[in-house]
Amino acid sequence: MSVKIAPSILAADFSCLGADVERALVAGAEFVHVDVMDGHFVPEISIGPAVVAALRPVVSKYGGVIDVHLRVEKPEERLGGFCEAGADILTIHVEACLELRRTLREIRALGMACGVTLNPGTAVEKLEPVLREIDLALLMSVNPGLGGQEFIPESIERIKCLRKMLDGVGSEAHLEVDGGVKTGNAGEIVAAGADVLVAGSAIFGGQKSIEGNVNAFRKTIQDCH
Ligand code: DX5
Ligand code: ZN
Repeated sequence: MSVKIAPSILAADFSCLGADVERALVAGAEFVHVDVMDGHFVPEISIGPAVVAALRPVVSKYGGVIDVHLRVEKPEERLGGFCEAGADILTIHVEACLELRRTLREIRALGMACGVTLNPGTAVEKLEPVLREIDLALLMSVNPGLGGQEFIPESIERIKCLRKMLDGVGSEAHLEVDGGVKTGNAGEIVAAGADVLVAGSAIFGGQKSIEGNVNAFRKTIQDCH
């Protein structure tokens, strides 16, 4: 499975968000990761369907994928709005969803790919019951909050465990990792079994340009294959 780069727009310059996203796509990023926060499931409030709708044309122009990570309570109440806005993937937290299987099926019934995710403190085994019904499993490698946090080292074992679980049921789902991903740890994360790397501050922040950061990730990924 080829490894995909998913810049997290949370770290982009919101005063020129479309231009930043276009630069990342032109440089070769395949996914655009949108962290939606409601101020309840996590303390911060970020963005909603209007931003997804605004980004849809530029992402489509480059054949990109809008990868929405719902860090919200009652995600089952949010599906239609993100579907209309043009989300391609909608990922929900096991901790926030009472009817996980039903909500995942509803996401697919709306025509989007469905993802499930879990915080660092939640056992990976919690995903067991839905492994055959997902298109993406997202493993948080930092505690939910703002971008720019340190990667939690124990996440590597969790990635290996999740990869084994997905392979064990013959799942083709993506294994995405989100939080503290840098070029310095990307090789280890991919070697552990991830195939989608979310990176916010490592793409939109730091000394290099967006293009330089995306290229640095691509080179790291190529070197580890
Ligand atoms: C944590 C952050 C990250 C974000 C990526 O809650 O919100 O998930 O997507 O940020 P970096 O790559 O800067 O950790
Ligand atoms: Zn995220």
